Amino acid sequence: MPSGIPRVLAFLHPAIALVTLALLFHVASIGLRSRERGGQALRPKHAQRAPWALAAVLLTLVSGIVATWLWRPDLKIAGGAHFWIGLLVTALVVTGAILSRWLPESARVKRIHPAVGLLALLFAALQVFYGMPLLPF
Ligand code: HEM
Ligand code: HEM
Repeated sequence: MPSGIPRVLAFLHPAIALVTLALLFHVASIGLRSRERGGQALRPKHAQRAPWALAAVLLTLVSGIVATWLWRPDLKIAGGAHFWIGLLVTALVVTGAILSRWLPESARVKRIHPAVGLLALLFAALQVFYGMPLLPF
């Protein structure tokens, strides 16, 4: 277990991850609400903010790996479920972003894009439970 400054720095990734989760939740929420009656105005907002959620997920992934490498000699890189779920969340958000290029024309993408996004959100929330035991307390 690290001590001193590395121990404090090791909390950076969980802090970034919580902001990312909030952003992902917000983006998913305005995406879904943009489909409700009168919610049209939320669609450009969703399209504008979603790339920030994608960037935040990428930053979270990289910060997790870098933090493990630099400040957690007690942990192994790619050492467990938290790593693999992290990769899955990132892959799902990237897939959602790529699919969004065919919106709003394709009826199939209209169905798949929100489902992929919600799956990413679900696994991102799971990361809290897989990340908690890793915290350097
Ligand atoms: C989108 C969400 C998240 C992603 C993509 C993610 C990704 C990662 C990755 C890839 C690692 C490196 C693990 C390894 O190489 O085995 C890691 C480490 C870690 N994660 Fe996460 N994580 C997320 C959320 C969280 C959350 C919510 C917490 C806290 C409850 C957390 C706590 C940790 C801790 C404590 C480590 C060890 C490094 C350190 O001490 O900073 N993660 N994470
Ligand atoms: C996080 C989960 C997400 C959910 C639940 C979600 C949901 C939705 C929904 C329901 C729509 C409306 C589709 C329609 O009826 O035409 C939509 C549109 C869209 N989404 Fe997402 N989305 C998510 C993530 C993302 C991400 C990560 C990106 C890109 C980085 C993105 C980019 C877009 C774009 C460009 C549109 C089209 C907006 C327009 O027609 O002007 N979304 N999304």
